[in-house]
Amino acid sequence: MASPSKDAAKKIEALREKIRRHEYLYYVVDQPEISDAEFDELMRELKGLEAEHPDLITADSPTQRVGGKPREGFVKVPHSSPMLSLDNTYNEEELRDWERRVHELSGRQDVDYVCELKLDGMSLALIYEDGKLVRGITRGDGSVGEDVTLNVRTVRSVPLSISKENLKKAGIPADFEVRGELLMPLAAFKRMNEERESKGLSSFANPRNATAGTVRQLESRVTAERRLDYFSYMLSQDGRTYFDRHWKTLSALDSAGFKVNQNRKLVHSMEEVWAFIQQWAGKRESLAYEIDGIVVKVDRTALQDELGFTGKAPRWAIAYKYAARAGITRLEDIRVQVGRTGKLTPVAMLTPVLIGGTTVRNATLHNMDEIERLGVKIGDWVQVERGGDVIPKVAKVIDDKAHPRGHKSFHMPETCPECGTKVVRTEGEVDYRCVNANCPAKLRETILHFASRGVMNIDGMGDALVNQLTERGLVKNVADIYKLTKDDLLSLERMGDKSAQNILDEIENSKKLPLERVIYGLGIRMVGERTAQFLAEHFGSMEALESAGIEELQDVNEVGPRIAESIVEFFSIAANRKLLERLREARLKLTGQKKKRGTKLAGKTFVLTGTLEHFTRDEAKKMIEDAGGKVTGSVSKKTDYVVAGADAGSKLDKAKELGVTVINEKEMESVVGDG
Ligand code: IVH
Repeated sequence: MASPSKDAAKKIEALREKIRRHEYLYYVVDQPEISDAEFDELMRELKGLEAEHPDLITADSPTQRVGGKPREGFVKVPHSSPMLSLDNTYNEEELRDWERRVHELSGRQDVDYVCELKLDGMSLALIYEDGKLVRGITRGDGSVGEDVTLNVRTVRSVPLSISKENLKKAGIPADFEVRGELLMPLAAFKRMNEERESKGLSSFANPRNATAGTVRQLESRVTAERRLDYFSYMLSQDGRTYFDRHWKTLSALDSAGFKVNQNRKLVHSMEEVWAFIQQWAGKRESLAYEIDGIVVKVDRTALQDELGFTGKAPRWAIAYKYAARAGITRLEDIRVQVGRTGKLTPVAMLTPVLIGGTTVRNATLHNMDEIERLGVKIGDWVQVERGGDVIPKVAKVIDDKAHPRGHKSFHMPETCPECGTKVVRTEGEVDYRCVNANCPAKLRETILHFASRGVMNIDGMGDALVNQLTERGLVKNVADIYKLTKDDLLSLERMGDKSAQNILDEIENSKKLPLERVIYGLGIRMVGERTAQFLAEHFGSMEALESAGIEELQDVNEVGPRIAESIVEFFSIAANRKLLERLREARLKLTGQKKKRGTKLAGKTFVLTGTLEHFTRDEAKKMIEDAGGKVTGSVSKKTDYVVAGADAGSKLDKAKELGVTVINEKEMESVVGDG
């Protein structure tokens, strides 16, 4: 008879295999077979089993992607063979020169090439032993990189473990090294920057910098949230390429469960290489991530070895770089734009310049700190860059003989350029703001935000319409949108009967959108899409949210004192309360589905401290909240339980001093039970 722990071990391993398969289907091939909820359920089941049998937890378990405590820094590790970079070419002629050298050095004319996208991230080496991921190393200086294993483990498209069968099927040995590109997809980049901005943090300039910043986070929890992706393109053993053809390497990686970019091609001539380059020049904008060119590699490993290296780059591969989406132009002026929250953004007015097929007339300068960092003056020549989804920005000042410097310094205006109210810069904040609640710019931006796609989705209510509506006083707040009549719309410029009707239909449709959209649409400072969602789930109605106090607000996921204060302040203003009254009259959805919570821990307050072994803070918080309890940040006499993990500090001392019950992780689980 099998012992109970043997049974458990079997069950756990089977569940892990199942989860790994669904991770693969979701994150690698993008063809999920089960819903997110079903996936979460599997993970919960596994976590439960592992909690019962902590001795069976292994590093390659899917539950172990995030964990561990923040590190002090990163350890340097040498690479098995140098991590090289690539030489660049910028036109067909340079590419032909490269081909000629390949022919000359190899003494052959019939060379096969593999074309791949040049992904704009950072290269990363993954070391596997016995099919398990043991180390992730950044490129560093090429010969020594940094051990970022804990962060790499959080990347869902990186397999933590590959079964013997899969390795066998792919023809890959148990110990091997994979190299590839770590990157941040554009959607994740956008979301991250929006969140950072709503929290008053500086935004990352491009996805590549964001990737580098994210993989070097000291807390892997943060890396996990940022949704990096990894494409592999090299496979070696003991520092030597494993297969005899590069094309085989890519197929083998693919079949072992690694994510390999599907946009690749094995070709037999330079004509075909050139066609591939042309094809992607036109299609690169449609990708979910940024590429900056195409990489061409000699297919045969034996030929690669013959060709060898020059300095830091192989002779057997070359990058073709697409014309940088950057241009040089003159900074004619700096104007200030007032946003929805009253934030003043300096915007560069440029001599129009064509960048990647788009005429760019202005570019953001973000804030005063950025202007100082760039040292930019009005009249300067500047390099402007345009990323995929990102607004153009001034990247640097050009300072050479051909481009004389400008002389006029820019200063933030003392009053709002739209309404003349004195501008305020709060101590410790980067941004200057107009605090006039009735500033016309704020009104315009608030209406635009409310009507935009991710919010109330009123198609057709863009700049031109909103300008007219606000200037003519037809819309003085978001509730006025729902009072607009066809005659109102027909009185505007360039508005026919059909467009007017379309807009009215759109407005009508927006009333069906859920509570979280309305909350987001109100434009409460620091309340972005995600926070709005959490608020809607927690309170279930606008009414409950309106009357919530600072304390209760902080019970909501990711809401801290600053956001709570901002919400309370919003609802304390009579005009805002009146606005909600009118939205209610207009029959917008001001109630929603409160997320069901257990009652087992109703009225109980918890404080988490130290590092938990099996859960992230967020997971533990969610468990307690789902059971009806609440988690707060500081210990007081009112605290019912302090959950102390490893290295708990002052909060634990305080709990002991006040006589609060202290429990460990395991005890927390039994207190929480099934909620
Ligand atoms: S091959 C010796 N393939 O481009 C071979 N690199 O500019 C070097 N990159 O450091 C790597 N996509 O970070 C290769 N499909 C691809 C790539 C790629 C992006 C990056 C890589 C490399 C840099 C060189």
